[in-house]
Amino acid sequence: MQDLAGKTAFITGGDSGIGFGVAQTLCQAGMNVVICGVVAESLTGAQRELSRVGRAEAVTLDVRDREAFTDLADRLDRDYGGVDVLVNNAGVGFLAPAVEASFEQWDWVLDINLTGVFNGIRTFLPRMLASGRPGHIVSTASIGGLLGTPGALYAAAKFGVVGLMEALAAELRDSPVKVSVLTPGIVRTNIHNGPPPPGDALPHLPGGTAGPDLSLAAMQPREVGERVLEAIQEDRFYVLTHAEHRELLARRFDAILASVPTDEGDPRRAAVERAVLANPVYDEILAAAESRR
Ligand SMILES: NC(=O)c1ccc[n+]([C@@H]2O[C@H](COP(=O)([O-])OP(=O)(O)OC[C@H]3O[C@@H](n4cnc5c(N)ncnc54)[C@H](O)[C@@H]3O)[C@@H](O)[C@H]2O)c1
Repeated sequence: MQDLAGKTAFITGGDSGIGFGVAQTLCQAGMNVVICGVVAESLTGAQRELSRVGRAEAVTLDVRDREAFTDLADRLDRDYGGVDVLVNNAGVGFLAPAVEASFEQWDWVLDINLTGVFNGIRTFLPRMLASGRPGHIVSTASIGGLLGTPGALYAAAKFGVVGLMEALAAELRDSPVKVSVLTPGIVRTNIHNGPPPPGDALPHLPGGTAGPDLSLAAMQPREVGERVLEAIQEDRFYVLTHAEHRELLARRFDAILASVPTDEGDPRRAAVERAVLANPVYDEILAAAESRR
């Protein structure tokens, strides 16, 4: 989607951290930006700052609230003629080990970080398709959605977001709505001061207090925002933020490949498996990367 000026973006969790970085970048690109979150004061401050750059509106909306999503979508249809870019970004951090987590905490992490993303897609996608206009949906996962690092509940939600978006990319291949999944590494945000989980407070920081000094190395949200803008303009599916992840990802993919049975396999079974499982989006990404070289 090249021509963004005058179009409308809706960004969940757009008042803080990565979402705010994306909001700033899209506002700068001339889009009308509507952000939502759950902290009134933060929303007011973010709107004030964005309004210096362009048209910006902030609304209170909990991504778990499906009715509120529908009401908002109806209103955005009336006031903006619909949404062209949807950014499902709202999320909470939760890195306690599975053995310490309660069922309530599982529901909380999954409801916000995964179901919240689907709520956005299910609400806005049919409207975007019905408009017939080019559109783009970006969902924020995490590098923790590509690498199963400790923090099992968070990983489950973020792997879920990656899977949801990979399958959605295939489903929407022939439509004017394109999709991306954002998988950032460590970014300087307010995630450690987000809404508290139900039950006892549990450790949120990777590695606890004994871990490396994350604040020194963390990326700025604005830089992530620039990558998201690029992905929307150049129709890129995977939005990775850190070159430093290459080696870590290679280890995971190599470990999986090293676990594939080494017999020759059955050609008939291979044909069936390919017919059911192949996602042409992977081939397209590889072809586009090849042509950029
Ligand atoms: N900060 C990182 O290092 C990092 C790395 C990878 C992925 N992420 C992901 O990036 C996304 C944004 O997080 P961030 O790091 O910018 O943190 P942040 O706390 O600065 O921003 C999170 C935003 O989500 C909103 N939010 C939380 N619960 C909500 C709910 N139920 N309904 C609506 N809004 C809600 C918050 O109000 C806030 O605006 C999250 O999905 C997070 O998992 C963050």
